[in-house]
Amino acid sequence: KSHNLLADGTSISDLIDIEMREVKLRTLSDQQLYDLEQQRIFGKTWLMLGHESEIPNEGDFVQRFMGEDSVIVSRHKGEIYVSLNVCPHRGMKITTHDAGNAKVHKCIYHGWAFRPNGQFLASPVADQCMHGTIRDKEDLGLQQARVTLYGGLIFATWNIDGPSFDEFLGDAKWYYDMLFCRSDKGMEVAGPPQRFIIRANWKAAGEQSAADGFHTLTLHRWLGEVGNYKKGEEEGEGGDLTPEMFGAEVSSPHGHALRCIDLGRKIRRLTGKNPDELSTEEKLKVLPPPGMNPEMVEQLKKNLSPEQLQVMAWMPPQVGGMFPNVLFGFVYIPQADGSVVGSMTLHTYVPKGPDKLEFTNWIFVEKDTPPELREKMVMQTIQLFGTSGMVEQDDSDTWPHMTLTAKGAQGRHSTLKYQAIYETDKPDGWPGPGIVNEGFTKDDTQWHWWLYWYELMTAEQ
Ligand code: FES
Ligand code: FE
Repeated sequence: KSHNLLADGTSISDLIDIEMREVKLRTLSDQQLYDLEQQRIFGKTWLMLGHESEIPNEGDFVQRFMGEDSVIVSRHKGEIYVSLNVCPHRGMKITTHDAGNAKVHKCIYHGWAFRPNGQFLASPVADQCMHGTIRDKEDLGLQQARVTLYGGLIFATWNIDGPSFDEFLGDAKWYYDMLFCRSDKGMEVAGPPQRFIIRANWKAAGEQSAADGFHTLTLHRWLGEVGNYKKGEEEGEGGDLTPEMFGAEVSSPHGHALRCIDLGRKIRRLTGKNPDELSTEEKLKVLPPPGMNPEMVEQLKKNLSPEQLQVMAWMPPQVGGMFPNVLFGFVYIPQADGSVVGSMTLHTYVPKGPDKLEFTNWIFVEKDTPPELREKMVMQTIQLFGTSGMVEQDDSDTWPHMTLTAKGAQGRHSTLKYQAIYETDKPDGWPGPGIVNEGFTKDDTQWHWWLYWYELMTAEQ
């Protein structure tokens, strides 16, 4: 059991109180726990690294991180490879570029060279410098991660014989397919991702990504007090964001989480009708998913099941996360002129030490999104999310404070509490699988996130 003890003798199971649904605050600052997470979480689960539209051509590559390990994500003969960015000769970093194109990656130290798929190619003055080499050439390549593509998103893991990506997603896949696999040509990035450093533990952001809806009402309250939502005042709603808190939340035994938010209020505003009077197709045409116009609804019908279409027109997944460190926002944002423009973003919160993370923000559009809509989506996303986004300035203000309070001699014994429990089941007529609860947003999804964290952290090594 000693592998589950921290330096001061605390065991990992002392950090979480299953019955009380509480987690010790020190979990957000402990160095040794952080080191164990690098092996047990980031060394074991599937991690999102980007999208294939970032590297469309032979030799294109981007540098990304799996935990603290730098990796080269590159395209070779049409396939995507993820190679550890460490020279097998003496440990130099192979590439220091964020992105580029290279048919050959050559180490700047002694010149060993590798193909984009990580295979060892050659060394300079090989008959001298490789003289006496015991290993086969095949053994000298860059370490390879296991890779999968999902809706063009690139995921990789070091857990070569572990669960498949589909097993990892489990029941949540039915919902993610509605976001990532709904159009004929798929999504593409609207440019390279934004990146910025936040002085916070990755779990402060990670657990929020597991569908913390509640904070919106306070931390992002201004959203209801300016332009878009404020328009609701005319209907006597004021800038009230409370209706946005209702829907169905999907929890997952693997820590994934989705908030499916009721579109009823928006459809009523756009049509002046009760949404129940409209068919699924009519609703989708009035309010198509982000990145789509009414003509593209035909694509939805082709790629999704009737049950998925029903949910898409009723309570589509809009925000949530994928364990351990991905957040998605596929949101419908009301505009001052009464229309609605969608936004499609994905973030990763990459750990850089117990009190530092790198926030990476990708903005997406559908490949078929018409240029005018694309422009609106990108502008709006830049305003709301990521480096310049007003919403996420709020979030990135709270996480560093939580990380600091977790260091105090008293504060570290305080707890994160997840006691708002659903006492409801799936909404009536809900066709989707999984653990689904209807109503005002609660803590269940985030609690499941912690339970999976705990499972991985205490698993037999
Ligand atoms: Fe890369 Fe020597 S460390 S060639
Ligand atoms: Fe937020």
